[in-house]
Amino acid sequence: MRYSEEIIEEVRNANDIVEVIGQYVRLTKKGSNYFGLCPFHGEKTASFSVSPQKQIYYCFGCGAGGNVITFLMEYENYSFTEALKVLADRAHIQLPKQEPGGMRREEQELRTKLLEINKTAALYFYEQLKTEEGRIGYSYFREKRRLSDATITHFGLGYAKKSPDALYRYLKEKGYGDELLRESGLIQFSERGARDKFWNRVMFPIMDVNNRVVGFGGRVMGEGEPKYLNSPETKIFDKSRNLYGLNFARRSRKDYILLCEGYMDVIALHQAGFTNAVASLGTAFNEKHAQLLKRYTNNVILTQDNDEAGIRAKLRAFPILREAGLQVRVLDTSETGYKDPDECLQHLTPEEYESYIRKSKNAFLYEIDMLRRSYQFSDPAEVTAFYNETAERLCMFSEELERRNYIQAVSREQQIPCQQLQELVEKKMLRAGLRGQKPKEPLPAAGPRSSAPEKKRAAASKSERLLLSWLFARQDLRACVEAWLKPGDFSEGICRELAELLWQGKGELDPAGLMDLYAEDEEKRREAGAILNADAAHKSLEDMSAADFEKALTEAVRSIRRRALEAEIAEAGPDLARLQQLLSEKEALNRLVIHLEEMKR
Ligand code: UTP
Ligand code: MN
Repeated sequence: MRYSEEIIEEVRNANDIVEVIGQYVRLTKKGSNYFGLCPFHGEKTASFSVSPQKQIYYCFGCGAGGNVITFLMEYENYSFTEALKVLADRAHIQLPKQEPGGMRREEQELRTKLLEINKTAALYFYEQLKTEEGRIGYSYFREKRRLSDATITHFGLGYAKKSPDALYRYLKEKGYGDELLRESGLIQFSERGARDKFWNRVMFPIMDVNNRVVGFGGRVMGEGEPKYLNSPETKIFDKSRNLYGLNFARRSRKDYILLCEGYMDVIALHQAGFTNAVASLGTAFNEKHAQLLKRYTNNVILTQDNDEAGIRAKLRAFPILREAGLQVRVLDTSETGYKDPDECLQHLTPEEYESYIRKSKNAFLYEIDMLRRSYQFSDPAEVTAFYNETAERLCMFSEELERRNYIQAVSREQQIPCQQLQELVEKKMLRAGLRGQKPKEPLPAAGPRSSAPEKKRAAASKSERLLLSWLFARQDLRACVEAWLKPGDFSEGICRELAELLWQGKGELDPAGLMDLYAEDEEKRREAGAILNADAAHKSLEDMSAADFEKALTEAVRSIRRRALEAEIAEAGPDLARLQQLLSEKEALNRLVIHLEEMKR
C-alpha cells in the first residue's frame, strides 16, 4: 500500500516532531534546537538533536537521522505504512483506503511478503518448542545449553520438527505460493517436491537492527554435520549487512561492543548481562560488518574462540575494524581453558568474565604476541627476524608520539631493549621514506590522518554540506548562487544528488519532506541528515549577522567552484583556449562577493 506525497506531507505536518519524539526522549532546548540522549546508541552526553524548524532529528554521535515518520520506524520498528498510520491517528487524519502504486512497489511488496513469511515461520518454530514433539528441542535449550525461558523468548528460539515438509504445509495453509516460499529460502524445491530446509534442528531467528526476522540458523541437537545450517541470502537477507544480536546490542548503553563467533555465544553473553554482544554469521567478518558496527560504537572487543581458527579470525578482523575507525581490543580467556564465551559463562560468573573484559588487550600488542609465537627463540637468526618484523609493523604508526608509545609498550612486553627497537624502527622509516614508499598497511584508527589531498577534500565537502544545508533552509538563496554553481560542481554521491534536487526546483522539498524520499534507505537518510544539519554543527543561519552570513556564503561558493575548476583544469588536456578560459574564471572567482540584498533586487 502506497500513499500519495500530499497525504504523507499532511500527516507529517500535523505531527510536530518535538512533541512526538518528546514522548520517547527527554529533550532540552539549547539554542534553536532540542537535545537529548540518543535512543539509537548508548551515550552519556546528549548528541541527539531535534530541530523544530526543519522538523528533523539528527544524532551527532551515531549519525541516525530522519523525520517524524522515520523516527517511529526506527524506534518502534514500524514499517513506513505502520508509522504513517499511527501518526495519522494521532492527528485525527483519515488515510485514504487505496492508492495507485509507485514505481518500485512490486519489489517493496515482495520484501514485505518475505518478512511476513519469516515472521510466521519464526512464530511457528517457537510454538513447536512447547509441543510434545518439540520437547526435545526445548530441553536441549534448557538443560544442555542452560538457557532460561526468558532468554528463549527474548531471542525467539524455536524448533523445526522431524518432518520433511511440516513448515511447507503450514505456510501453504496460510496461503503463500510456491514461488514466494522458494524466495524465502525456507523451502527447497526439487523433482521430489517441496522440502523444508530445516528439520530436526533448534532454530535461531536472525533479526535485523529493526527486529525484523530476515533469516534463520538451525543447529543439530548433539553431534552431526553440518552443525549449523543457515538461511541462504535472499532479497531481505544480506549476510554482510547483518550481525546477530545487534538489534539488542545497539540499545545496550555500553560504550563498546563484544564481537564473537556464534549464535550461542551471543545468547549466553546476553543472558549473563552482556547485552552488547554480536556475531557475524555464516560469513567471515568483513568491511560492511565493520561499518555497521561503527554506527553504534567506537570500541570493539574481540571475543572469538581461543583456538587457531579463532586467532586467525581475530588477526583478519583487526585491519578491517581499524579501517572503519574502530578501536580494537582482544579478550583473552585462554588461561581458563574454555574455548568460547558460551563455555566460559557456563563455568565463570559474570563478574569473573567482566574482569577479563577489563583486562582485554590492545589489538596491536596482541598481534605482536601472536607473531612471537611463530619464531624459535633459541635461534639468533629467528630472533633477528622477529625484531625486524616487529619494527616493520611499528612503522605503521605515522604519528610520532603514538609510535613512541607503542615502541615502549612492545619493548616492555617482548623484552626487546627499547633503544634498540627505537633505532630499528627509525631506520626502517627512513628507508621507506627514501624509497618513496608508504609504510605498509597504515593504521588509520589511531586518529585523523593528515595527508594534504585528503584534508583538502574534507574541507571542500564541508563547504558543500554547509551550503546545501543553507539552500534547503532558505529557498531564496539558490538564485544567488546559481550563477556560479551547478550540480556537477558538487562531489559525486549524496551532495550532488541533493544539489540536483534543488536545481530542478524541488526546493519546495523541506528537510523533513526530503527524508521521506529516503524513508526506506537508512544509509542515505544518515547522509542526508548529516548534510541538513551541517549548519548546526557549524553555524546556524539564525545565529549569524547578515554580513557574516554573506561572507560565509561567498566563501562556500568560492571553495566549491574552485575545487571543481581545479579538477576541470587538471583534465583540460591540450585545448589551450579552454584552459585559459578556466584559469580566468578561477581568477574571477577570487573577486566574487555575494550581496544578498543586491541579488534580491
Ligand atoms: P562454532 O562451531 O564455534 O559453534 O561455530 P558454537 O557457536 O560454539 O556452537 P555450539 O556452542 O557448539 O552450539 C561458530 C559459528 O559459525 C557458524 C555458526 O554461525 C556458529 O554459531 N557455523 C558453524 C556455521 O554456520 N555452520 C557450521 O556448520 C558451523
Ligand atoms: Mn560454543
